[in-house]
Amino acid sequence: MCASSAAGAVCRWPAPNLRPVRVAQGLGDDPRIGEIVVTEEQLAAKVAELGDRITADYADRPPLLIGVLKGAFIFMADLARAIRLPVEFDFMAVASYGSATKTSGVVRIVKDLDVDLTNRHVLVVEDIVDSGLTLSYLRRTLAARQPASLEVCALLVKEGLQKGDPDLRYVGFRIPPRFVVGYGLDFDERFRNLPYVAEFADGNE
Ligand code: IMP
Ligand code: MG
Repeated sequence: MCASSAAGAVCRWPAPNLRPVRVAQGLGDDPRIGEIVVTEEQLAAKVAELGDRITADYADRPPLLIGVLKGAFIFMADLARAIRLPVEFDFMAVASYGSATKTSGVVRIVKDLDVDLTNRHVLVVEDIVDSGLTLSYLRRTLAARQPASLEVCALLVKEGLQKGDPDLRYVGFRIPPRFVVGYGLDFDERFRNLPYVAEFADGNE
């Protein structure tokens, strides 16, 4: 995907049909970035597959997609274009207290929804389920608003870390329980625009 040269890494960026450009120093070539866990190609294929499934499942009741900011913004944008239904959108921003790489489980709504969920078919779009605490908080909060249905589509699920069953209707990839960045996911607000998902080792864990 990326070829190194004396002048820096040259990658396809961000879409296959765009000509190669140089990735700025400190992004794809940051030494803390490790193995690629999910490639651009795998992401594109999975997004298309999930879009097809959601299109079929919601054919008679177009969903309201709720993106959980900030991590889900890239997945949500790609997924929405793979769903061939008249969907509507809203976004919610939550912050969980904790360190840069660990959730504490105490979640705070930073930006609430604009739309009323009563009788809506709600599909929550999440970037990653780690402990599952953020999602279980969101689910309780949204279920209390009386939607007609409430399902979750998570791009990534870390294996073996959730205490209960996170009850996910759609899952992109189950990945090992390591910290990852890219395709919306950050470390300290950076690396969200990497076009793939890669392991990240800060050295402070
Ligand atoms: P949970 O509450 O432990 O499931 O954590 C959920 C949230 O923590 C996700 O929506 C992400 O925003 C963030 N998060 C968890 N794991 C990672 C990771 O490996 N990289 C980046 N963000 C993560
Ligand atoms: Mg998130």
